[in-house]
Amino acid sequence: MAEGHIAAIILAAGKGTRMRSELPKVLHRVAGRTMLEHVLDTAASLSPDRTVVVVGPEMEDVAAAARPVADVAVQPEQLGTADAVKAARSALSGHAGEVVVLYGDSPLVRGATLGRLIGALRQRRAAVAVVGFRPPDPTGYGRLIVSAEGCLEAIVEERDASRAQRTIPLCNSGVMAFDGRVLFDLLDAVDAGNANGEYYLTDLVAHARAGNRNCTYIEADDADELIGVNSRAELAVAEAIYQTRVRGAAMAAGTTMTDPSTVYLSADTVLGRDVVIEPNVFFGPGVIVGDRTTIRAFSHLEGASIGDGAVVGPFARLRPGTRVGDDARVGNFVEVKNAVLGAGAKAGHLAYLGDADVGDGANIGAGTITCNYDGVAKYRTEIGKGAFIGSDSALVAPVRIGKDAVVGAGSVITEDVADGALAVARGEQKTVAGGAERLRTRQRRRAGHEDGSGQGEE
Ligand code: UD1
Ligand code: MG
Repeated sequence: MAEGHIAAIILAAGKGTRMRSELPKVLHRVAGRTMLEHVLDTAASLSPDRTVVVVGPEMEDVAAAARPVADVAVQPEQLGTADAVKAARSALSGHAGEVVVLYGDSPLVRGATLGRLIGALRQRRAAVAVVGFRPPDPTGYGRLIVSAEGCLEAIVEERDASRAQRTIPLCNSGVMAFDGRVLFDLLDAVDAGNANGEYYLTDLVAHARAGNRNCTYIEADDADELIGVNSRAELAVAEAIYQTRVRGAAMAAGTTMTDPSTVYLSADTVLGRDVVIEPNVFFGPGVIVGDRTTIRAFSHLEGASIGDGAVVGPFARLRPGTRVGDDARVGNFVEVKNAVLGAGAKAGHLAYLGDADVGDGANIGAGTITCNYDGVAKYRTEIGKGAFIGSDSALVAPVRIGKDAVVGAGSVITEDVADGALAVARGEQKTVAGGAERLRTRQRRRAGHEDGSGQGEE
């Protein structure tokens, strides 16, 4: 990876009107992470001295998202990509190393590509280096004009290109690197004399050549990496490409996926070795899965950490704050939220465990509900190690069930149960010998069969 003094500029001032959204474009998400975070991560792989995100006026939410890891510069008016880079000038004062420019709406660029770009810039002692690519349909992209010797001479935008230039398949991805000592002088030379009336960053190539400086380009291995997102449809394309990438990485690292195309991962999903993921599983942000754990079909997980050797699903829902212990089981139609299940604990069927601590080896019967919310505030339920909660029990929090305690099926537990105690809280059973026939006689009479004989039944 490139080392030395590098600065990164991320352009994010465009309004993204084609998204038709209240949300600024770069805050839309791919695999649970905003496009801006993806690009910031890629930039971070260069270990830059400084990173500057260029935003438009009234894009305070983008600025707030960027500020923890970058400087923010405001471009008052969207006058073009060259003007946007100029907006970063004061944030980069005194910087003499290379400057890499990335777009906030190109979330799939790989760090390795940036490394190669910087390598080319340095090796050719170039003023400008560009990542070129050959998209299946080059419409709309700037074309790279390359000399017979393989030097980059100019970039011509589609609208300004001649018919012949439009047949050039090699396009500008928008990812560019500059020699920081000349960048701002070159920018000052750019004018807006083009079909769009904009200040084009791409014009820096021709200006550098006019001053007899070298310009160069590399070609990306994979055109998918450079896709730009301008619409919801393109966002979905970016998602699909990214999912293919992360599924591939997960399988390469030792996860089995029965049908990878139906598994949705987040950018931060962590999967251990010999994890098995059945079809139709969704991982929201913040999920960590231990070794030898199986996630069965149709499960939805977010903000959950799962130990080794556990089995989750089918049809399980793990919500934020869930911790599932080693060898534990969370079965079908079980929802867990902000709750800890100890090692070997089991909740096999149809349960809600919210704001709960379940001890090691405890067994939660089908239909058990922790009543964690009284309409005003939420409270915790504690279930001790080895406890057994009978089916269809309601545990009204705050409440504590002791170690090895047993709760009888159908109980509504409102008071703590001591270690080793048996609690049954339901109407007592009454059995009347021969009562069934007497009941039927009464029912028939009520239905109008005066003698209760059953005459007239169909
Ligand atoms: C740009 C390139 C084109 C390249 C294409 C790749 C120029 C002149 N053209 O065209 O050669 O093939 O990207 O996708 O650079 N932005 C600002 N402020 C502005 C204008 C743009 O911050 O005033 C930001 C946008 O938010 C966006 C990026 O710069 O992230 C690119 O701008 P856009 O208008 O989409 O450029 P393209 O026409 O796609
Ligand atoms: Mg664009």
